[in-house]
Amino acid sequence: MSIQASEKKMWDGRFESGMAPSMIDLSFSLHVDQALIEEDIAGSLAHGKGLVESGVFSAEEYEKIAVALRGILEDYRAGKALWQAGDEDVHMAVERLLTERVGDLGKKIHTGRSRNDQVATDFKLYMRRRAAEIKNLVLELQTEILKLAETHFGKLMPGYTHVQQAQPILFSHYLMSFFFVLSRDVKRFQNFLEIHNELPLGSGAMAGSAFPYQRNLVAEELGFAFPSANSIDAVSHRDMALEFTSNLAIIASTLSRYAEDLVNWSTSEFGFVTLSDAFSSGSSMMPQKKNPDSMELIRGKSGRMLGNFTALFTLVKGAPLSYSRDLQEDKEPVFDSVRTVKVCLQVMKEALATARWNFETMERKMLPALLATDLADFLVESGVPFRNAHHIVGSLVGEAAKQGREFTELSDEVWEKTGVPNPKAVKAKLTFEYSVGKRNIEGGTGPDSVKQQFEKAKALLKKN
Ligand code: ARG
Repeated sequence: MSIQASEKKMWDGRFESGMAPSMIDLSFSLHVDQALIEEDIAGSLAHGKGLVESGVFSAEEYEKIAVALRGILEDYRAGKALWQAGDEDVHMAVERLLTERVGDLGKKIHTGRSRNDQVATDFKLYMRRRAAEIKNLVLELQTEILKLAETHFGKLMPGYTHVQQAQPILFSHYLMSFFFVLSRDVKRFQNFLEIHNELPLGSGAMAGSAFPYQRNLVAEELGFAFPSANSIDAVSHRDMALEFTSNLAIIASTLSRYAEDLVNWSTSEFGFVTLSDAFSSGSSMMPQKKNPDSMELIRGKSGRMLGNFTALFTLVKGAPLSYSRDLQEDKEPVFDSVRTVKVCLQVMKEALATARWNFETMERKMLPALLATDLADFLVESGVPFRNAHHIVGSLVGEAAKQGREFTELSDEVWEKTGVPNPKAVKAKLTFEYSVGKRNIEGGTGPDSVKQQFEKAKALLKKN
């Protein structure tokens, strides 16, 4: 079979022909990795500076290189057409552009560098920058949640387990659960930035560069804390990307759970919330419909974010050390997860801020059975062992269910016979407010506790 091969490449000294078109389709990655251009240029600027110390560039030569690199970035930002059909990836494309602009000097930028340590550096830099941005989006969402919780402090709603009404809670208590789970995402990012702070540049293809420069200075230039300790480790491993996509998938799954509740709450069956038009959509056929698409999409997107994590894990698990081309496939899942989580965080924040909360409906839908635990607790306070109290209240609820009534509607005689002394007084005492007010334990739904949660939340936000 004869194949029409393409033109030769920058690395083609030992090759007799170029790549087959099918191979180009398989291997070229510019369409994906051009997203790394900011980091690639930052990396080349720092590496070039290092090369002055190695004696590869004079200070004036480096200045020329730096001006050209910055010019390429400016042109990219201005939307100028930079790419050519023969550009394999962003790294080769930038080097070609540099060489076109400064001549042979541009051909020196890759001294002591391999795309292996270059791409590892770009990618790490990219993830560090995006982690900081996403952390800020999480903080913005938390700020919105806290604001809502404070604004609507005191409103009651049914709390659920198994999607069955469980116990009365403050609406703010529910919201603060969202705040606190997100605070661990913020911590995960802080930890992530602390762990993955080593510069790969200087590692070369895998054995280390033969053109020494003070790697700590290049590291500092790029915002890394240290040079990597081992060149094989630096070019081989993608644990940072695994951790990143994992962190993002965790955020996505959290958003998905709250989105799921909001989907349910916006049904006519619940009626707890009305999403604003801006975060809903209509049906192409049924004129009456207003659907909670924003929340359904957030729920749906979490699937692909877990998929991205899984794809990456599967990619690296069998890749032999040090670098293998498989690793080029590490970027799409990360880029996709970044894009996806950012839009989901933004939409969740805006949808919450613009939603109408129907507190009357929440309260109207609260069933007296929410107070069953409180009655049992009340009996315990008057000396009945908890298991017996549980049984007494259980039989009241069972009897009421048989009659198709609420347990609070059973007569005082029935209550007394079943084991509740002073039923009239007890019934008067058992209210949703009473139930909530009994739970001022740290972390509980009691009003004092929820206020304490606000203070804790403010302290957390202040720390960041
Ligand atoms: N585009 C490639 C990547 O992202 C660059 C590395 C190529 N390295 C190599 N040794 N062929 O992984």
